[in-house]
Amino acid sequence: MADLEVRFCGVKFKNPVLAASAEPTLSSENMKRVIETGAGGLVAKTVTDSEAMRRLTKMSKWRYLDEEHNVCRGKVPRLFTFYGRSGLAEEEPEVWMEELKEAEAAAHENDCVVIGSVGGTGVANWVKLSKMVEDTGVKLIELNFGCPHPSEMEGARTGMLIGQDKDTACEITHAVAQAVKVPVMIKLTPQVADLVEMTRAVKEAGASAVTLMNRFVGFCLDIETGKPYIHGWAGVGGPWVKPLTLRWVSKVHTSIEIPISGTNGAYDWKDVVQFMMSGATTVQLCSVVMLKGYSYLRKVVEGLNAFLDRKGYKRAEEIIGVAARSAMSYGQMETLPKERAVIDRERCTDCERCITSCFYNVIRVVDGHVTISEACRGCGICTCVCPVPGAVTLETSSR
Ligand SMILES: Cc1cc2nc3c(=O)[nH]c(=O)nc-3n(C[C@H](O)[C@H](O)[C@H](O)COP(=O)(O)O)c2cc1C
Ligand code: SF4
Ligand code: SF4
Repeated sequence: MADLEVRFCGVKFKNPVLAASAEPTLSSENMKRVIETGAGGLVAKTVTDSEAMRRLTKMSKWRYLDEEHNVCRGKVPRLFTFYGRSGLAEEEPEVWMEELKEAEAAAHENDCVVIGSVGGTGVANWVKLSKMVEDTGVKLIELNFGCPHPSEMEGARTGMLIGQDKDTACEITHAVAQAVKVPVMIKLTPQVADLVEMTRAVKEAGASAVTLMNRFVGFCLDIETGKPYIHGWAGVGGPWVKPLTLRWVSKVHTSIEIPISGTNGAYDWKDVVQFMMSGATTVQLCSVVMLKGYSYLRKVVEGLNAFLDRKGYKRAEEIIGVAARSAMSYGQMETLPKERAVIDRERCTDCERCITSCFYNVIRVVDGHVTISEACRGCGICTCVCPVPGAVTLETSSR
């Protein structure tokens, strides 16, 4: 059995699978249910001094949408979209700290790590809330600079609005990092031009780690009624976002020395492996847990374990960043040997499907047979659309 343990900012996690800050962690009762699954850790729901963000949670609305963006009824596909809104922890901070203490005590007994999450308004409140969270005994604090809803919510200058304002983000990071002893992680919004630059800035301001990345704001609608779902704009995400998240996880991993917790788009253990191979040390799951229930977290841990064993990895940490570090720049790719598509005459049925998708116009019918000319640039589209396995493949050309 592979060793699943990972170290993140000096804190030991028995495995890298975490429940993200959200409804599955919105009370001590819910957090205990996460802890029981054997997950390595959890990020508690974000505590806030913003009354508006507390109210929003009382008006929570969520819809799973299918690939055509119809509302799901009973069957939710693998590549679902999760469209909805809720705010931050409903309790006043003083009350919330009791929830957090209870969860921390349960986590301590079960070798699980609770990460406190903070979403304040104004530097002084960020500091005050972070100190209160630290006093509950948690080992790490995540500052939520990514919550998408404040962009649509009057009177709640927190979340994404901080993550989009580098100076304020750095000011808060610096103030909190100075005020608490535990490591401070910054959860960033993807709704900025460059997350590498943002990560560099918060690291310089005192962040020990980053969480990449929170959800987007979107707009999904019903063409029959001509109205948006759940009355308007909302947070949007789902497993289809994963490549966008992994872009930034891999970019940050290869550009800056800083631990990364990945979130936004992980569905199963394979996704956890992908997040880790892109550079994440821990991976946070939310919308799939809300779909399948707490016990699903256990399956993710088991799947990761079986994968590591099958591939002969001794430790989960071995896979962190392996794919990111082997990614080439566009310039380096120019030195790669050329490829071209080659048709296997025995298998090809001359159906001409590949011709439809070759926009370099190098596939023609010659003497009654589909033929690829020397001018093929090896783009690979034909190998994806050909319905006959092995009829057209890419080979390294001598050109
Ligand atoms: C219902 C819901 C509530 C959320 N609440 C919070 C929150 O309070 N604080 C926070 O930092 N992120 C919050 N998030 C974002 C999640 O922590 C997570 O980063 C995001 O859903 C992406 O992960 P996923 O693809 O596994 O869903 C919330 C997301 C959802 C869906
Ligand atoms: S590899 Fe690309 S360029 Fe070559 S034949 Fe196929 S589709 Fe055309
Ligand atoms: S799509 Fe495949 S089977 Fe059809 S003509 Fe092209 S190579 Fe042959």
